Parts: sequence; C-alpha cells; structure tokens
Amino acid sequence: MAHAVVSIDCMTDGDVSEVSRIAAPLHMDEHQLRDELSRPWATIDVAREHGVGIVGFINTWLVVDELQILQLATRHDRRRCGIARRLLEDAIARARKRGACCACLETRRANIAALRLYEASGFATARIRKGYYPDGEDAVEMSLQFEPDTSPDSLAEAFLVHR
Ligand SMILES: CC(C)(COP(=O)(O)OP(=O)(O)OC[C@H]1O[C@@H](n2cnc3c(N)ncnc32)[C@H](O)[C@@H]1OP(=O)(O)O)[C@@H](O)C(=O)NCCC(=O)NCCS
Repeated sequence: MAHAVVSIDCMTDGDVSEVSRIAAPLHMDEHQLRDELSRPWATIDVAREHGVGIVGFINTWLVVDELQILQLATRHDRRRCGIARRLLEDAIARARKRGACCACLETRRANIAALRLYEASGFATARIRKGYYPDGEDAVEMSLQFEPDTSPDSLAEAFLVHR
C-alpha cells in the first residue's frame, strides 16, 4: 500500500474518543487514555492524515534515559502504510534529543505484525517472559540501544546544555 502522508503531534483531550477507537484492540479505554495524559512522564502522540483524521497513536514513557513503548496502534483501514513506523521513529528521535539512550517494549509472542515492525526498526529480543499476559500468552521483551547522536542539531543542543 502507498505510504500515508501524516503529521504527528501530541494528543489532546479532544482526541480521546477518536484515539480510544484505535486503542480498542489493546484494551485501552478513554479512562486509561485520560490517565496517561495526566502523567508528566507519559506522552501520547497521534498521527493525523489530512481528510481522514487520527490514524494512529503511540504511548510512551520516558523513564530517566529509557524510552518505554507502551502502546502503538494504527487504525485498521490504514495499516501497512508506514504509519506505525513513522510514529515509532518520531518518538525515538524526540526521546534521544531528551537524553534517552535506549528503548524497550514488550509484545505478545503471536503478534507477528508488531514483532516484524519492531525488528524492522532495529529492536532485538532481550528475553521471553513465559505466561506474562493474563490469558497465559508469552511476552517478547525487546530493546534497542541508540547509537550516539552526532547530528548537527544534537551537538548544538548538547553544547547549549553544557555551557
Ligand atoms: C502492529 C501495528 C501497530 C503495525 O502498524 P502499521 O501502521 O500497519 O505498520 P507499518 O505500516 O508502519 O509497518 C512497518 C513495517 O512493519 C512490518 N509489518 C507491519 N505489519 C505487518 C504485518 N501484518 N505482517 C508482517 N509485517 C508487518 C513490516 O516490516 C512493515 O514494513 P513494510 O510494510 O514495508 O513491509 C498494527 O498492526 C496494529 O495497530 N496492530 C494492533 C495493535 C498492536 O498489536 N500494537 C502493537 C503492540 S503495542
């Protein structure tokens, strides 16, 4: 499928109902989304497609220097258009600018789409957690160490921070 042109920005209160429909397969409801919005260490970014609306979201926590990827989902009819990859790359780029040195996540062992997406983005399996989910399914824990960011933007930021 052709890649979607999306813009990515922070989720607002007004987006909760639309995002909750995309979050339904992850059993995440409006109440949980509002809880996340209220946590200072949590971020929910949404992908917006012109004329379509919100087509995906990613929920992350930045814990000291580690980006924890909690939920990532794309609207059913917009899958395989590069939206999840874009949300993931964007979240990683911003976390790196804020000092993160690694990312981690866990996903169901049978979630082939998620496993392929994360592998394609450089994540490697750290360990299998047997019977991790309430229904007994195993979790695959994955992680990604970031290369030092030597882009001109990042070096300029580091220079300003350390002056
Ligand atoms: C997993 C999920 C987020 C992927 O979203 P997406 O927007 O369709 O993914 P992308 O289009 O960015 O795919 C990027 C790459 O991931 C891999 N991938 C994605 N879906 C795949 C699938 N169904 N089968 C195999 N590989 C897949 C491919 O390598 C793909 O690149 P390609 O299309 O060039 O081959 C989506 O299937 C989803 O929302 N699933 C339900 C929620 C969920 O399980 N979230 C993950 C756990 S938190």
